[in-house]
Amino acid sequence: MDKAIDKFTVPAEELNKQKEYTELVSTVLKSRFTEGKPKAFVHTYGCQGNVADGEKLKGLLYSMGFEFCLSPEHADLVLYNTCAIREHAEDRVFGNVGALKPIKKKNPDMIIALCGCMTQQQTVADKLKESYPFVDIVFGTHVAHRLPEFVYRSLCLGKRVFETADSDGNIVEGLPIKRDGTFRAWVPVMYGCNNFCSYCIVPYVRGRERSRDFDTVVEEVRGLVADGYKEINLLGQNVNSYNKNLPEEKQFPALLRAINDIDGDFIIRFMTSHPRDCTHELIEAMAQCKKVAKHLHLPVQSGNDRVLKEMNRHYSREKYLSLIDYAYELMPELSITSDIIVGFPGETYEEFCDTLSLVERVKYTSLFTFIFSPRKGTKAYDMDDPVSRKEKGVWFKELTDLQEKIAGERTARMKGRSYRVLVEEKAKTEGFLSGRTQGNVIIEFEGDESLIGSFADVKVTNPRTWIVYGELV
Ligand code: 5AD
Ligand code: SF4
Repeated sequence: MDKAIDKFTVPAEELNKQKEYTELVSTVLKSRFTEGKPKAFVHTYGCQGNVADGEKLKGLLYSMGFEFCLSPEHADLVLYNTCAIREHAEDRVFGNVGALKPIKKKNPDMIIALCGCMTQQQTVADKLKESYPFVDIVFGTHVAHRLPEFVYRSLCLGKRVFETADSDGNIVEGLPIKRDGTFRAWVPVMYGCNNFCSYCIVPYVRGRERSRDFDTVVEEVRGLVADGYKEINLLGQNVNSYNKNLPEEKQFPALLRAINDIDGDFIIRFMTSHPRDCTHELIEAMAQCKKVAKHLHLPVQSGNDRVLKEMNRHYSREKYLSLIDYAYELMPELSITSDIIVGFPGETYEEFCDTLSLVERVKYTSLFTFIFSPRKGTKAYDMDDPVSRKEKGVWFKELTDLQEKIAGERTARMKGRSYRVLVEEKAKTEGFLSGRTQGNVIIEFEGDESLIGSFADVKVTNPRTWIVYGELV
């Protein structure tokens, strides 16, 4: 095994210890719950990386003997897997945790556990310790694999558990996974982030960049495809730095090619790509690999060079646009999406207008737009921020209006054309199904439920801005 991987890999002895805790908990639960299994309610907030973590936490709980329920009211254990990316995300979690207090009053044996990016921050862990005495277990991102031990300490020893030590992070292979879907799978290829964009909390709560072993990832995907999964989502904060210290044949474009070579009918998506490390090789691999969805999520954050510099993004508007031009040259039908922050500290209206003109130039399919949210501990937290929230709200609306116009123009061009879509679920309208094109556009059409989880060809008849309507071909 590669040395860099070895440094982060959690040793087998540690995992075996956790298996012993799993057995202990399982025995205790069997003796306490003689009629039916104990129930866990697990809720994940935030990004797909967190969702993938949530599936492992559920895998661990399942091994301990829990089954899952859909609301905290009926749960014997509640686990909130939290997100810290913006203040709003944290406020929601605190609100939802507060709402558990009366439920726990009725069911004092219920265990309440919190984990994820929020709890990795010492200030949050301290607040929970002092002001939320009904919370039993709080653990950070770096020790999530020790959940069996934490449940044991709470359930069998009656102790409150706080485990949030900082660390560079680790890689844990071989944990049980209880996947939420049967046709769409999340596959992390790397963890952590080294970029330290000046507004972002992620590098502080997720540790340093570390990549999973190339063959392990390929084998995991092979297994998923054999199990019938149709959409493989490769995840990382910055997939372009996957194995960046290893030879090219182990880096991300090579990984895409190796997965593309796996036999079977499935599509490959990936996120997120950082423009700083997005290379022509990656774009070429995308263009050449038939199974790779022609969708590139390339967060620009701002269209102004001064703001980009202050954000510590390490690319210019020009470099970003040249990547976009190359990608469109190789894949004229490519769908591009992005993340944008409005109202970064010190950003002027003129600078914001550079973002508008970039959006107009790139013609994104859709955008994830955010008003800057100060995160304690990041560099931007201490920067002067003279523009009011209200003013930022006006700019924000200007951006979303522009994107709405562009999205509408793009979807209008889809009329009369057929797309291969992965059918995902029943739509709100009776008798309709909902799926997504390769380019990540939602498409709804009449069809039988049995199509869910398979590919269908759909002709667009009535494109609207955010949803296009069509009919089965
Ligand atoms: N404020 C607003 N948006 C943020 N993001 C990350 N940190 C912040 C913050 N402090 C956005 C970025 C990133 C996305 C996942 O969240 O646009 O790409
Ligand atoms: Fe945050 Fe930047 Fe890392 Fe993305 S690349 S997780 S925005 S620090």
